[in-house]
Amino acid sequence: MLDTAPNRPDLPAEIARRRTFAIISHPDAGKTTLTEKFLLFGGAIQMAGQVRAKGEARRTRSDFMQMEKDRGISVSASAMSFDFKTFRFNLVDTPGHSDFSEDTYRTLTAVDAAIMVIDGAKGVESQTQKLFEVCRMRDLPILTFCNKMDREARDTFEIIDEIQEMLAIHVTPASWPIGQGRDFLGCYDMLNDRLELMDRADRNRVAETIEIRGLNDPLLAEHIPADLLAQLRDEVEMARELLPTLDPAAVLEGHMTPIWFGSAINSFGVKELMEGIATYGPEPQPQSADSRQISPEETKVSGFVFKVQANMDPKHRDRVAFMRLASGHFRRGMKLTHVRSKKPMTVSAPVLFLASDRELAEEAWAGDIIGIPNHGQLRIGDTLTEGEMLRVTGIPSFAPELLQSVRATDPMKGKHLEKALMQFAEEGAAKVFKPAIGSGFVVGVVGALQFEVLASRIEMEYGIPVRFEPSQFTSARWVDGDRQAVEKFTDSNKQHIAHDHDGDIVYLTRLQWDIDRIERDHPEVTLKATKEMM
Ligand code: G4P
Repeated sequence: MLDTAPNRPDLPAEIARRRTFAIISHPDAGKTTLTEKFLLFGGAIQMAGQVRAKGEARRTRSDFMQMEKDRGISVSASAMSFDFKTFRFNLVDTPGHSDFSEDTYRTLTAVDAAIMVIDGAKGVESQTQKLFEVCRMRDLPILTFCNKMDREARDTFEIIDEIQEMLAIHVTPASWPIGQGRDFLGCYDMLNDRLELMDRADRNRVAETIEIRGLNDPLLAEHIPADLLAQLRDEVEMARELLPTLDPAAVLEGHMTPIWFGSAINSFGVKELMEGIATYGPEPQPQSADSRQISPEETKVSGFVFKVQANMDPKHRDRVAFMRLASGHFRRGMKLTHVRSKKPMTVSAPVLFLASDRELAEEAWAGDIIGIPNHGQLRIGDTLTEGEMLRVTGIPSFAPELLQSVRATDPMKGKHLEKALMQFAEEGAAKVFKPAIGSGFVVGVVGALQFEVLASRIEMEYGIPVRFEPSQFTSARWVDGDRQAVEKFTDSNKQHIAHDHDGDIVYLTRLQWDIDRIERDHPEVTLKATKEMM
């Protein structure tokens, strides 16, 4: 079953076997634990425990910041690759905190599917819902994992109903839990008529699988106590009557989500979920670009940068641009065209992220994520091709919702501060605006926690203590229109005008009223709340 690509038999095998996805969840639902088990079953790590965000000795590379350690949150995204059976999985880590929604949005532009993890006791939580909405904007296929079934969980029908109602998506059970909490035995595999029994003694062991012939197989009674078996039969019968059956096309269109029940910490249900990703998850999808669509099977290589991470190793001021390959077969040392600058770029030291280590990527295929160390040439939204002037679209930059002024506590460090701010702006960690009048900078973010993260990073990575202070402005809009109209407009509104790190003109607003007034009085210019990164 798992040796063929279900949807696109015409794709080259190396591309067809790739699955690139992210995990979305509310904090604490079990994303880290599940990631760890993916890597364990993917053979990428020997021992579970290596990627624990809260673990002592080992951390993912993205967790290098003191701030993250203190708060136990992961603010930066990274990508991990591992093999499962005949498949290559690329897991892109989404930042977990709600304050980092823009970063999360961009991360989700680099994947073809998402795994939604929910806590069996809590159901759909606020952050799950927000992230789900982002996936829906792109019609991403979603597979669901209902975790922590080893604890007291909600009724199975209730969980399914809640997902259907709150997220407006059809839910089809891929497995059905047998008992719950202390009595949780395992699951009945609804897709393959198998019995999966959880091993409570060894948390890292894959569950025992017993082939059975349907729910009336007498073998079931040997493993399941009579009361639980009667309940299972009733529930599965009811589920088959009331809930939709799995429709792979609807899953790929993002209209239906199959749900697996399990316990990540006990390694239970994880293998079945991985088989589900392989079987029902999409292979690398076409990418929209400004003049045409890019298909993964095109022989020429193309890719786009969705994330830039600076100072991954504080000892070396390197930056890594994370590029999702949109097409072709990439080989190390290839000369690609950096479309924005129209300059050639030899990619000689690309890295693949295998579990917690970086490794030189000798080759990569459409769907893969590679890290490209660089000195700042690569920015979010950049496209690399083998010469064609294509620009991948759909990677937006949102207007920040919170603005503050920033200054160095030591006025002598003003120039250094500018450099640090520009770097964070290019990384996408914040918007930085230089007002046309006066000195200093206005920094814009989407969530308040980002100010703290920035202050801590500027101090740690550049040795510049800074103070963020309330700004008179509350929001920013990019100014668009023909050159003369924009010039005239900026001249007459100087006290509101600033430039972002790309040199684009923004209008800093105090009140929504400002925006309304301009729309009324200056129809020749448009104020935009998003700009496409390029
Ligand atoms: P997150 O990345 O989504 O925030 O969640 P994470 O994996 O860190 O899991 C959150 C907590 O839930 C952790 O406990 C983890 O051990 C626990 N957990 C994960 N999966 C399961 C499961 O299947 N069953 C049960 N019972 N617990 C699970 P913690 O106490 O916060 O951390 P730790 O002390 O275990 O490190």
